[in-house]
Amino acid sequence: MATADNVQIAPAEGKLGVLIPGIGAVTTTFVAGLEAIKLGLGKPIGSLTQLGTVRLGKRTEGRSPAIKDFVPLADPSDLVIGGWDIFEDNAYEAAVKAGVLEMGLLERVKAPLQAIKPMKAVFDPNFVKKINGPNVMTGGSKMDYAEAVMEDIRQFKQRTGAARLTMIWCGSTEVFAEAGEVHSSLEKFECGLKKSDPAISPSQIYAYAALKSGVPYSNGAPHVTTDTPALLELARERNLPLSGKDYKSGQTFMKTLIAPGLKSRLLGVRGWFSTNILGNRDGEVLDDPGSFRSKEVTKSSALEYIFQKQLYPDLYDNLYHKVRIEYYPPRGDAKEGWDNIDIFGWLGYPMQIKVNFLCRDSILAAPLVLDLVLFMDLAQRCGMRGVQEWLSFYFKGPMHAPEVYPEHDIFIQLMKLKNTLRWMRGEDLITHLGLEYYD
Ligand SMILES: NC(=O)c1ccc[n+]([C@@H]2O[C@H](COP(=O)([O-])OP(=O)(O)OC[C@H]3O[C@@H](n4cnc5c(N)ncnc54)[C@H](O)[C@@H]3O)[C@@H](O)[C@H]2O)c1
Repeated sequence: MATADNVQIAPAEGKLGVLIPGIGAVTTTFVAGLEAIKLGLGKPIGSLTQLGTVRLGKRTEGRSPAIKDFVPLADPSDLVIGGWDIFEDNAYEAAVKAGVLEMGLLERVKAPLQAIKPMKAVFDPNFVKKINGPNVMTGGSKMDYAEAVMEDIRQFKQRTGAARLTMIWCGSTEVFAEAGEVHSSLEKFECGLKKSDPAISPSQIYAYAALKSGVPYSNGAPHVTTDTPALLELARERNLPLSGKDYKSGQTFMKTLIAPGLKSRLLGVRGWFSTNILGNRDGEVLDDPGSFRSKEVTKSSALEYIFQKQLYPDLYDNLYHKVRIEYYPPRGDAKEGWDNIDIFGWLGYPMQIKVNFLCRDSILAAPLVLDLVLFMDLAQRCGMRGVQEWLSFYFKGPMHAPEVYPEHDIFIQLMKLKNTLRWMRGEDLITHLGLEYYD
């Protein structure tokens, strides 16, 4: 039986403003999708918040409400979108250039996309090397840029009448850089902003501005943004949720489906070679070794944690894992991923698995953006602050508390997510024990 909610959940009244650094392929596919869905031109395939259900109570009770009826989520038609980009293209022009959606569809949603004009970006070519554009802030300190973003946020809220806001990074992947001295406390970080410390990235400036403005922050790319003591401290201080990083959309999604299955049967893995060809702007940026290194780190970590070689040395101790991304313009957004998996079974006899995933990067990512926006807003209305580990389901490199390892197994991640929703509403958590059916 349902009991009282474990947390007070503020209602999802009014419009939810979604602030997005980066109006590229993922963002425009997400936004065009929202408009197409409103017009009945398509369905939100791939979105757990829109199509998923959650089983409550015993299997005999037959209670499986839609997630969106079970927890109070903002309605996708209540979202208003704004963002920043280094290019001046409005979202319609950017969508045409991204080449993900057909022109026939884009023409039907042209007006609302044209209305999304990117604000001037905080940009630093030391962090994203392969592209550069004219629509950038110039001539100030990093603190000046943070304040300018805060002003953009204030004006966006006023202009749109949004009741609440959330920010999600869909910008390019920045170069790999770990947290340093300037990130070790909020005080040092703020001092670093004033001195334009070169170790502070543009994404960290957006995140700082968001958190200072009372806006949750989610990171769809693999670089380090809020996983630093300074920004974690700010999120805690302001009672704001954080999540990240790097959407788990294509090859790593497949990996985290297959690897738990092999492990469940105690099959060994000697090698896992993953390669991709990708021709969109994301692929171009990832052609730079620094940005690729950020991606390599999040793409590589899943297997290590799923296989737990320290517990299963006979099976996974010598696993050779290699990940490649090749920029190949003719392919555009229609990425092709190959995996060759060298496995072994009884008495060590070798076998192979080949996976060839002909996917569409932004088609896979767009529903993840929608879910994250809605769940981050829910988390904020529940008063949940800091790292939202229950949203690991969406990420290749899930943020986590320092004392625990990140959970990568997608089935455990989904169970954790749904149990968190049950917990919010005071429902029994599902353990899958089920002995009571056989008493
Ligand atoms: N598509 C997927 O399946 C997927 C999966 C995981 C992660 N990602 C990540 O999501 C991000 C977006 O992917 P995409 O395919 O839309 O890339 P994209 O290149 O089409 O779009 C990124 C946009 O960000 C802009 N940009 C770069 N630096 C910026 C800054 N400092 N401020 C504002 N705008 C900035 C670029 O000009 C570009 O328009 C990338 O980091 C990518 O690695 C994508």
